Amino acid sequence: MNPQTRVGVTELRRAAIEALKLNDLGTMTSAAPNLYPHMWSWDAAFVAIGLARCDVPRAITELRSLLAAQWSTGMIPHIVFNENSAGYFPGFDRWGTESAKARPSAVKSSGICQPPVHAIAVRHIVDRGRENGGKDQEAAESFLRDSFDGWLAWHRWLADVRDPDGAGLIEIHHGWESGFDNSPRWDGPYARINPGTVEPFTRRDTLHVADASERPDDAEYTKYLWLVQQMASVNYDDKAMQDVVDFRVRDVFFSGIMAASSDVLAALADDIGRASEAEELRGLSRRFRDGVASTVDPRTGLARDYDVLAGEWIATDTVSGFAPLVAGGGAQSLAAQRALLLGPDWMGYPGLRFPLPPSTSPSSPAFRPRTYWRGPVWPFLNLLLGWAAQRNGQGDLYEMLRTASLEQLADLKFSEYYEPFTGEPLGSLNQAWTAAAALEWIGSDA
Ligand code: SER
Repeated sequence: MNPQTRVGVTELRRAAIEALKLNDLGTMTSAAPNLYPHMWSWDAAFVAIGLARCDVPRAITELRSLLAAQWSTGMIPHIVFNENSAGYFPGFDRWGTESAKARPSAVKSSGICQPPVHAIAVRHIVDRGRENGGKDQEAAESFLRDSFDGWLAWHRWLADVRDPDGAGLIEIHHGWESGFDNSPRWDGPYARINPGTVEPFTRRDTLHVADASERPDDAEYTKYLWLVQQMASVNYDDKAMQDVVDFRVRDVFFSGIMAASSDVLAALADDIGRASEAEELRGLSRRFRDGVASTVDPRTGLARDYDVLAGEWIATDTVSGFAPLVAGGGAQSLAAQRALLLGPDWMGYPGLRFPLPPSTSPSSPAFRPRTYWRGPVWPFLNLLLGWAAQRNGQGDLYEMLRTASLEQLADLKFSEYYEPFTGEPLGSLNQAWTAAAALEWIGSDA
């Protein structure tokens, strides 16, 4: 860290480990202490990356708990409910997954999914295990061997069920599946939804933030719950769901992660002698990389989502436009994405507290600096971009993201998201994946 840093890496590491402990429920980690008292799928992957830096066996337990919730179809659900907490809405009962045939009956979960970052987490666990040697190495390698088929089934389900035409783009059925819940990306698709009668509800998320305007509003929530009702009405059957749901979008950022992660899983397959699966996964990686590349808007250089029901492209100035950087690709495309990211609409926007990309560009009329996915900076996402930059051989970009992230996280708040100009921590404090990001950025430096 540079001299301006408020605390040293040793102190940051200690505080990050403490934040993860605060969220530790034994065999899983809550995404945040109050706001999110259960396990979330992509949060769990980032948490495992952080845990691998301090406790390889505990990182393995995290992903084993997530895999125990995998549906018989291969889907990994986006929430695994902690039996001991009723403090979140919508809870298990509201999801209506009780009668979903594919859900393992012993584990309560939601019925939708989130981006497949998990293979990247497994890679980190194996790498840390090998660095440590001894029992950690043994545990990590045996975890890889016995969990591989679960991850493979997850990738196959995504490819077969959510990209049946082979376009190389994953279709999602809820903004929550993207992880970018209320991003301007979804304004068009949500504007076209006219919800029918939604069972009455009382939100709990707004109780846990200082200012309710940092969260999605009630009209947005009504639509979120309408979609849940639609999916529950067909018991989350994959085929039927596609026909009833009012939100069908090809999510480019999800697809970029699918491309990157399939490539990582292919290398892990090689590692355990599963050559034909490695080849299959490399094929998936190419398919989704090409799919992502096909969405790039020639005018802006940013990747776009596609609204299936409206039959139109969704062009927004959101960080999801950097899906090609995450997916990987040709030198020219990666150089163009790097230049854009470092440019005046993103990391180089004048007046940013730290040179880190806001979730929506401040140049966009849709930008809201304090509202969830409409503008704030999300630390876990910067870790993902940094990981991709390093894989792409973009060492300077990686170093810039790392330096700025370590400075941002030195406030020791481990906030869910940050106001881009003031650096004010927003949303939930002690968010598990933010603490995990700090641990991974520190790496072996402390
Ligand atoms: N992120 C959503 C929430 O805010 C759920 O996935 O509750």
